[in-house]
Amino acid sequence: QRERTFIAVKPDGVARGLVGEIIARFEKKGFVVVGLKQLTPTKELAEAHYAEHKERPFFGGLVSFITSGPVVAICLEGKGVVAAARLMIGVTNPLASAPGTIRGDYAIDVAKNIIHGSDSVESSTRELKLWFADNELLAVATPN
Ligand code: CMP
Repeated sequence: QRERTFIAVKPDGVARGLVGEIIARFEKKGFVVVGLKQLTPTKELAEAHYAEHKERPFFGGLVSFITSGPVVAICLEGKGVVAAARLMIGVTNPLASAPGTIRGDYAIDVAKNIIHGSDSVESSTRELKLWFADNELLAVATPN
């Protein structure tokens, strides 16, 4: 089933120069970039994106971190991309992420885990609407 997912390279990943490496992994896997832009998220966007974590003690820090600098927002398309991208990313805690995953290879800190990926098809639909306007996404992707 072809799907779309929302990926964000967080401010730490951008600052560390990991954007190209991260996009290359997804492209080599066979997924297609159908949306791509760099922006520093507003507080409103960050709070909406992380709404499910509103009551968590780390919510304030999470919002200030994600708004602290440029983020690279990516929409990927491909067969089973939502779950597959999560497998490629690893788990929330980079120290528990297997080597070979993005977090397992490049991060050690749960708060600075360099990348976000939607956790379900429903989340990807919600997040893509928050981060991209319809005309910023390719209507038709070339499958590879
Ligand atoms: P992400 O997958 O983007 O979704 C929620 C984020 O909250 C998660 O990545 C982490 O960066 C962050 N997070 C989760 N748990 C903690 C924690 N205990 N302390 C700080 N940040 C956290």
